[in-house]
Amino acid sequence: MSSFIVNGGKRLSGEAEVQGAKNSALPILAATVLTKGENVLFNCPRLSDVDASLRILRFLGCEAKEQGEAVIVKSDNLSDSEIPERLMREMRGSIVFLGALLARTGRARLSFPGGCELGPRPIDLHLKALRKMGAKISERHGVIECKADKGLRGAKINLSFPSVGATENIILAAALAEGTTTIINAAREPEICDLCDFLNESGAKIYGSGEGVIVIDGVQELSGASHDIIPDRIEAATLMAAAAITAGEITLRGVIRNHLSSIIPLFEEMGCETGFKNGDMSFSAPQKLRAVPLIRTMPYPGFPTDAQALLMAVAAVCGGTTVFAENIFENRFKHVDGLMRLGADIHVQGRVAVVNGVNELYGARVEATDLRGAASLIVAALRAEDKTEVNGIEYLERGYDGLELVLSSLGADVRKL
Ligand code: EPZ
Repeated sequence: MSSFIVNGGKRLSGEAEVQGAKNSALPILAATVLTKGENVLFNCPRLSDVDASLRILRFLGCEAKEQGEAVIVKSDNLSDSEIPERLMREMRGSIVFLGALLARTGRARLSFPGGCELGPRPIDLHLKALRKMGAKISERHGVIECKADKGLRGAKINLSFPSVGATENIILAAALAEGTTTIINAAREPEICDLCDFLNESGAKIYGSGEGVIVIDGVQELSGASHDIIPDRIEAATLMAAAAITAGEITLRGVIRNHLSSIIPLFEEMGCETGFKNGDMSFSAPQKLRAVPLIRTMPYPGFPTDAQALLMAVAAVCGGTTVFAENIFENRFKHVDGLMRLGADIHVQGRVAVVNGVNELYGARVEATDLRGAASLIVAALRAEDKTEVNGIEYLERGYDGLELVLSSLGADVRKL
């Protein structure tokens, strides 16, 4: 169990580089399973979830290594199509290997990814789509056994919900399928576009990513490609929240403005100011923030569920009341306990949380229970007078590459134990 010790009350200022996007790196690493030849991924963040993906690739017989700022993967000698439970357990996102393995080998065997801190994480949309593409799938004793002996065939797939993971699994399965696949009501997140860009650079024929309808013309084979992973919009939102809660003034390098199109307006409504100049974003916050009355999480381009906990930490010290509606996950308010121990005034009722802003937060010992919840507690601790101990930092390291170093470089007093 590693911890952060935060001495709050320091105003953040200075410049920071935004890391590569975790939720882009993970599906792209799975996509390398489809290719023959060397893949070079630049701007790949150093995260425990990325390490878990590299371990899975090596287990499958691929060469996967980190070389300086890049990750290099060669899947020519892929020899297995099974991911053991111990590797599946490390990361729920490994379900995205299902579509890739099925497309490359015609088989896939992996244990059910299971729920996580955010509530049950069903994969019914994934399996229904793959069955429609010709996969025979059995789910028994916690293991998913898939076969497509005659290969996968293109299909028209209507998603009842624009699931990010289901959209990714379908794209990966369809890239080498026989014929054309059309996904209706596809997820539109920037990480989906980045995955499609990587696949098209490898020779795939994918059209319409970022729109609600994506068309994939299956091809015979894909070759390795070099690719720059997009910046992590949720890490950017985390650093904005850290600056907002400390009345700071920072510059973030390597930000893609339209990826933050539903996040920036909320900070501006609180009284923060942003500016953009050749890929850098300047961000400054007033001493006293105004409360945003209602914040609802939605599929992209709506306000992202991954930033909900971060904005809640800031809302805790805004002047006024903020209502949060969490429309994506069943149970994504676990950070509320920790925020209340730090002095926040929050009431939760199902998928709604009501935050009454307070003037100050006070140091305490708090426990993180999931990735973005951990980040939320750290943001709040930056404001709390005196010392806060945040335990459960292994959750944080799944998605943030040295956050304590980034925050310290901006003037925060954060130490990792
Ligand atoms: C991805 O998870 C991200 N993870 C999550 O980020 C992110 O919160 C989520 O998308 C939404 O943007 C990765 O990319 C690795 P979904 P995913 O499928 O694919 C329900 C983080 O903090 N659903 O869009 O699991 C599901 O239960 C992580 O970086 C079904 O019902 O998200 C959930 O309520 C957390 N059946 C909702 O849809 C299915 O078959 C959204 O899930 C699939 C999903």
